[in-house]
Amino acid sequence: MKILAIGDVVGSASIDYLARKLGAYRAANGVDLICVNGENATQGHGIVRSDADALFRAGADVITTGNHVWKWREIREYMDEVPTIIRPANYPDACPGSGCVIVDAAGARTLVMNVSGLVYMDTLSDPFDAVEKMLRDNAGRYDLAVLDVHAEATSEKAAIARAFDGRIACVWGTHTHVQTNDARILPRGTGFITDLGMTGPVDSILGIDCGVIINKFRTRMPVKFTVPAGEISASGALFTLDRSFRAVSVEAVTL
Ligand SMILES: [Fe+2]
Ligand SMILES: [Fe+2]
Repeated sequence: MKILAIGDVVGSASIDYLARKLGAYRAANGVDLICVNGENATQGHGIVRSDADALFRAGADVITTGNHVWKWREIREYMDEVPTIIRPANYPDACPGSGCVIVDAAGARTLVMNVSGLVYMDTLSDPFDAVEKMLRDNAGRYDLAVLDVHAEATSEKAAIARAFDGRIACVWGTHTHVQTNDARILPRGTGFITDLGMTGPVDSILGIDCGVIINKFRTRMPVKFTVPAGEISASGALFTLDRSFRAVSVEAVTL
């Protein structure tokens, strides 16, 4: 079984890019499930209904999100209507949507989960407890589980992955928009990468115009983030699992 996870998609041109690339990649590599982080899909922050629809049409089976998810109000209702777009499970229970969803992938019931880290992130409930709860609540209803840890700190992402090694088939990090060079199989069979990277303009800082970001750092004043035009690349990871859903390979990929 093969699972492709794609890092934070920044802007509409990046959605179009995935629409051109994902179908061919899926066919060429025999991918059974594609998870895409969509928290930056609309103008670099959040995701509106039409962009979520476009990401699904582009080939995403599940859209995960992160700290920018609530930027556009309309996503609240969309989340309750469309279960295959999820948000970090450790947001308050009063928030719309869910932190996980079970989808069919090559006949396997796959529990896709999303949590946010706490280090340099919003103050939310404990992500370890949130994952435990999702696994417990869905026990008997899934064959394998995968997890998007949306977090800043590499140590926190590694700690969550190691804490659930052998119980979750794939753990990948998102949020930093920079792909890490550490794709590996953990001792009990979980495939892990600290961060997938992003899908966005190559000539940018994390998908945003370089001049805007330099100005922000040099002035410490609010700026309007803009997504520059130009060449795009998509970063992610391809996980290959055996019949018992243990990782046999994890590979950082660029589309
Ligand atoms: Fe992001
Ligand atoms: Fe983020």
